[in-house]
Amino acid sequence: MPLSRRGALTLIGGGAILAAGGAAGFALTRTPTAALAPWSAAGEYREPRMRALSYAILAPNPHNRQPWAVDLTIPDRVVIWRDETKDLPETDPYDRQLTIGMGCFLEQLAVAASETGHRVAFDLFPDGADGPVAVAQFSDGAARDPLAAHMLDRRSCKEPFADRAVEPTPALSALADIHTDPDRVARLKRLTWDAWMVEATTPRTLNESVDLFRLGKAEIEANPDGIDLGGPFLETLMLVGALTREGQRQPGSSEFQQGVAMYREMLQATPAYAVLRSRGNGRREQIEAGRRWLRLNLTTTALGLSLHPVSQALQEYPEMAEHYRAAHALLAEPGETVQMLGRLGYGPQSARSPRWPLEAKIVNG
Ligand SMILES: Cc1cc2nc3c(=O)[nH]c(=O)nc-3n(C[C@H](O)[C@H](O)[C@H](O)COP(=O)(O)O)c2cc1C
Repeated sequence: MPLSRRGALTLIGGGAILAAGGAAGFALTRTPTAALAPWSAAGEYREPRMRALSYAILAPNPHNRQPWAVDLTIPDRVVIWRDETKDLPETDPYDRQLTIGMGCFLEQLAVAASETGHRVAFDLFPDGADGPVAVAQFSDGAARDPLAAHMLDRRSCKEPFADRAVEPTPALSALADIHTDPDRVARLKRLTWDAWMVEATTPRTLNESVDLFRLGKAEIEANPDGIDLGGPFLETLMLVGALTREGQRQPGSSEFQQGVAMYREMLQATPAYAVLRSRGNGRREQIEAGRRWLRLNLTTTALGLSLHPVSQALQEYPEMAEHYRAAHALLAEPGETVQMLGRLGYGPQSARSPRWPLEAKIVNG
């Protein structure tokens, strides 16, 4: 059975797509309602920290691991931890990307808190690398951040983009390097594809992703994180045995190969790239990159643009070393680190990705 674009893209691309198709009734029954409930619950809390956190948990983060945990014991404060049980040792051996995800969480917390007039001051790594990521202190006096309007529409858009040029407007260029030069774009398409193939054909990195697959509604509802593959079309494939965890572990299988072809087509359908780089590569720079990525993603949403991280070439494991070097030679000055690389263009509004409820992330208080 041939895979649809939307179906196949989900197989090894990572992330949330609830594939369209099938009868509307069946579609309704396959929606993972509880896994998507945190999107509807956002903003529905009276307590200002809880209200802001209900948006922060919707932040982008690698493989949708949602590695945050919060302690609300002290009034007006949130102590924010990175949950190390959510690590990605194969593709993120130094927790660089997970830390960027924590930066996205902090920024979305601050943006959301501004809606109730709360300013959030972050004390980063107050106890060093082994303690909390940040202590957030809430106080009065913030003006509403206009980006707050876009938190519920923001996505990481894992879809082909239209053949339409992107203008590197000042709002975008203030936050990231925007690459639109055709030669540069062609080289980045090649690089992101080559790097993606390394991840997809290196057994331990492939298996790290496949282990995080949530195949169908029941698995998504049981674990609303990781790489969710749901919706009536994909569930039909699962029922007939054309989409299986084992097949996805085998680059030689036809279901895997069809996914590869579709992913390649998606990577090709990219008119521009956004890049974040930093001079240092410590935890603070990584947090800062995450904060900036969140603002960039909200800004692209405001402009009707789509953004999709394609991180493989930036990953730090031996099989990727050649592409890591190529990415840095192309995108950074000597000594800099490329923290984020994303496709940028005009894509469809993709589905929301699952989240654990806020209550599941409170460790105390
Ligand atoms: C540091 C970082 C790296 C990411 N890398 C990738 C990637 O390589 N490929 C991809 O499809 N998505 C990537 N994502 C996007 C996540 O998969 C996405 O944020 C998560 O599934 C939640 O979906 P949402 O952003 O649409 O809410 C990355 C996100 C972050 C913060």
